[in-house]
Amino acid sequence: MRELIKKLQAEARELIKDIKPSGNAGFDKYLDSDSEIKRKIKIADKIGLILCNRKKILDISTGCGWFPWVLKKMGHEVTYTDNLNERCPLSIEFRKALGLNDCIDFFYRKLHLRERTDSSIMWIYRPLPNLGSFDIITACSVTPHTYFNEVYWRNFIDDGLECLNDNGFLYISPNVGNGLYELEKVVKYYISAKKLQGWEIYK
Ligand SMILES: C[S@@+](CC[C@H](N)C(=O)[O-])C[C@H]1O[C@@H](n2cnc3c(N)ncnc32)[C@H](O)[C@@H]1O
Repeated sequence: MRELIKKLQAEARELIKDIKPSGNAGFDKYLDSDSEIKRKIKIADKIGLILCNRKKILDISTGCGWFPWVLKKMGHEVTYTDNLNERCPLSIEFRKALGLNDCIDFFYRKLHLRERTDSSIMWIYRPLPNLGSFDIITACSVTPHTYFNEVYWRNFIDDGLECLNDNGFLYISPNVGNGLYELEKVVKYYISAKKLQGWEIYK
């Protein structure tokens, strides 16, 4: 694995060498491609994606695209999504530099309110578009509280279960911080309701 990490780190350094820091430390941390590659290869190893048969993977909220880039290098077929109008312009630059030109524009958000017949109201949440079926669905380094609140997580899992192949699994590696408790509550519910198998929260 050390050789693979070194090889991909060297390749990535070359690809992003012209990207300039934005001045925002939160975004500029992604310029440290060596760390990003190492972390993503470790995740791939943890979920059995190194030296396995070609898998069909969906990476939700891909950001700069490090994970799909690493997975494609390992021979997997990867579909990836993020908000194409996102606040982090560096993500767009990174994906371009990494040759990831077909990012699907998708963001969990409330769409609008619908009046119900009992005159109460409910929110309609934007569902994941139909992208086919997958062996593995991933969401790495997402921040449970600020990005995905409890309702979004339920949507994420429901959407994921809809488009997973038999024996497929969801993988979330949330950033440590606010919201982990709520996320774990949601996950526990799905596991106890036997709706979810092969789940892992990576902290
Ligand atoms: C910290 S970045 C992680 C990016 C990438 N997965 C990684 O591992 O480096 C979190 C990502 O979540 C996305 N995100 C934030 N809110 C979201 C939402 N409501 N629905 C979908 N994605 C969201 C952001 O656009 C951002 O790219």
